[in-house]
Amino acid sequence: MDNAKGWNTISKSYQKRYNIQPNKYYWGPLCPKSLDKLLGNLKGKRILELGSGAAQNSIYLAKHGACVTALDVSSEQLNYGRKLAKANNVHIEFVQGNFESVKKYFEPNIFDKIVSSFALQYCMTPKSLKSVINQIFNLLKIKGELIFSIDHPVRHHGYWDQNDNFIIDNYFDRNTKSWEYSFPEDGISSTMTGSYKTIADYISSIIETGFILKAFIEPEPIDHEISNNFAVKSRYIDDPKKNPFSINHLKRIPGTLIIKVVKE
Ligand SMILES: C[S@@+](CC[C@H](N)C(=O)[O-])C[C@H]1O[C@@H](n2cnc3c(N)ncnc32)[C@H](O)[C@@H]1O
Repeated sequence: MDNAKGWNTISKSYQKRYNIQPNKYYWGPLCPKSLDKLLGNLKGKRILELGSGAAQNSIYLAKHGACVTALDVSSEQLNYGRKLAKANNVHIEFVQGNFESVKKYFEPNIFDKIVSSFALQYCMTPKSLKSVINQIFNLLKIKGELIFSIDHPVRHHGYWDQNDNFIIDNYFDRNTKSWEYSFPEDGISSTMTGSYKTIADYISSIIETGFILKAFIEPEPIDHEISNNFAVKSRYIDDPKKNPFSINHLKRIPGTLIIKVVKE
């Protein structure tokens, strides 16, 4: 099972709404640029991006001298990425595939770094997350790094109510669920499937695989002109009080969790 069909349907609207640019590395909503130091030295490094979407981050890495492979399950996201890579004059290897079986696309021990932004939360279950982390471990060289951001599990598990309180009903609910990713501005919506994972689900997968934790960051939002515009056209346009990505809400509940680990 994967969400390829859903992502193909919303790809154009997603790209239009979030307008992510390849001239900077995208960690998540309103994340500061200072995080880029986590990427380390990029020149000549062989890097795999998982759930690359339209490969804006892959293009950024290639522009900084890395040799990059972008993997995504959605053909529409990758087609958008191919056009962006061409427009930016960089070569990216594009692979259409499911990261839940990522080991079948590559030889073991070949990557210096594996990166992912806002994609690994789409692992279907905590068990499949563990399998993905294990496969990533095997694809990395010794001293290789996994650097990823996800929807912060606390934010992901809850919502803002009309009184501006953040409500989490059941942090431990890991049941498979379907939800609508909707783009009312384009009259488009897709049903996505997956399950919530807790912070401990990520950390225990990492520790049990043998990775060493190097960074664990809950970034506080940057306060500049795009802060007020991020996702304003989203489904929260008529109900801004519920927008989890407004600067005031991100100052209270983190939107993004960033983890960096190394294979020693
Ligand atoms: C929120 S987007 C993030 C993409 C990009 N990093 C960005 O910030 O725009 C999530 C991406 O993960 C991809 N994806 C979801 N599940 C996947 C899977 N099982 N295997 C590979 N890609 C997947 C989707 O197609 C989508 O492009």
